[in-house]
Formats: sequence, structure tokens, C-alpha cells
Amino acid sequence: MARKGKGLFITFEGTEGTGKTTQIKRLEAKLTARGETVVLSREPGGTPLGEKIRHLVKHAECGRAMVPRTEVLLFAASRAQHVEELIKPSLRRGNVVISDRYFDSTTAYQGVARAIGRAEVRAINRFAIDGLLPHLTVWIDLKPEIGFQRIQSRKMEPPDRMEQEKMDFYRAVRDGYAELAESEPGRFLVVDGAQSPEAVEEAIWNGVKKHLN
Ligand code: TMP
Repeated sequence: MARKGKGLFITFEGTEGTGKTTQIKRLEAKLTARGETVVLSREPGGTPLGEKIRHLVKHAECGRAMVPRTEVLLFAASRAQHVEELIKPSLRRGNVVISDRYFDSTTAYQGVARAIGRAEVRAINRFAIDGLLPHLTVWIDLKPEIGFQRIQSRKMEPPDRMEQEKMDFYRAVRDGYAELAESEPGRFLVVDGAQSPEAVEEAIWNGVKKHLN
């Protein structure tokens, strides 16, 4: 079912191990069953150029020397490409675009946890998204300690650069999300990630349904 030139843009946010990936797949299945065309994407990444940036910020050896200003600009560069190359064209086709992370990650991780400064991050985000705000942002809220316990029990690879911070860093990220959700209640759907996956799925679906035709 084409959405007549008006797509729906949904973003997912949260600290590590909150179950975003699982929930995105479940939401995709529900939307597809309703006849929607769903485009799944992620940040950093989502385009060939963005995936190279993803490698740089997460895994590359040279990334170990990365300073916070470089980091924020790399995330923003990946985003600018993502917006133009993938998200805007998909929305024009009337698709539902679901992105695993978007500009709120930069506010929470770089702006709050890395303490780059709200004003700078706001300006960089504004430049990168070129006016493209999500219709709905799902924040799966979970204590970072629990998220990391979940990751450790299932992940085979060693932690990447972004997964090697101290727990206080992720607590600050969570505080950043809480602040954002409070300041934009119309855009944010806050879901308690400590619930069962089924309960999380239902809460998300109830929020998404309101945006469907
Ligand atoms: P993930 O896709 O496995 O969640 O990994 C992406 C990592 O990058 C995660 O630690 C969050 C972080 N990140 C930022 O710090 N700033 C950003 O703007 C984005 C998109 C991600």
C-alpha cells in the first residue's frame, strides 16, 4: 500500500543492549503484514559511504586516536549522506523508513556523554538532517547495566570502540535521552525496556498505529 507520496519516518534510540534490533524486525513484520513497504536502515551507516564511516567509528585501528570533535562530525557526515541518498527518496515513494538510531544519538552520546556542548551539537545536527525530523522516535529505556549484561550473554565479538566506555558514560547517555524525551513528548514514545519483548512490541505497535493511514 503506497502512502501517496507521504512516507513515515520512525527512529529507534537507546543505549547498548536494549533490544532495538529485535523490536525493529518485529515492527517491520507487522507493518509489512499491513501492506506497507518498509525500508530498514541504521546509523552510522545506511549507505555505502555511511557504512565506511561506521567501520571508522566502531572498529578501525586508526579510530583509537579519534577526538570527540572528529567523532561528532563523522556521525553527522554519515547522517547527511543517509538523509539525501536513502531516507528522503524512500519517504517520497511513500515508504515507511525505520532507522536504528538518528540525530538523538548524537545529542545523547556526543552532546551529553562526551560533553561536546548542546549548542554545537544542535547546530551540527541541524546541518546534517536538513530539516528532516522523524515523525516518531521510539526510545527503549533500560538501565545500561542490564543492557550490557544482555550483550555479554549473546555477543561473540570483542566490544567495539563505542562499547568500551565506563558505565557512567552510558548513564549520561540515558540521562540525555530522558531529557530529550521530556522536551519533545509529541515525537518521543518512551518504552520500558525491562518488560518482556512481547510487552515492548505491543507498546511500540500501539504508538506506531496512530501514525498509520
Ligand atoms: P550500534 O549500531 O551497534 O548501536 O552502534 C552504534 C554506536 O555508535 C553506538 O555505541 C552509539 C554510537 N553513536 C553515537 O555515539 N552517535 C551517533 O550519532 C550515532 C548514530 C551512534
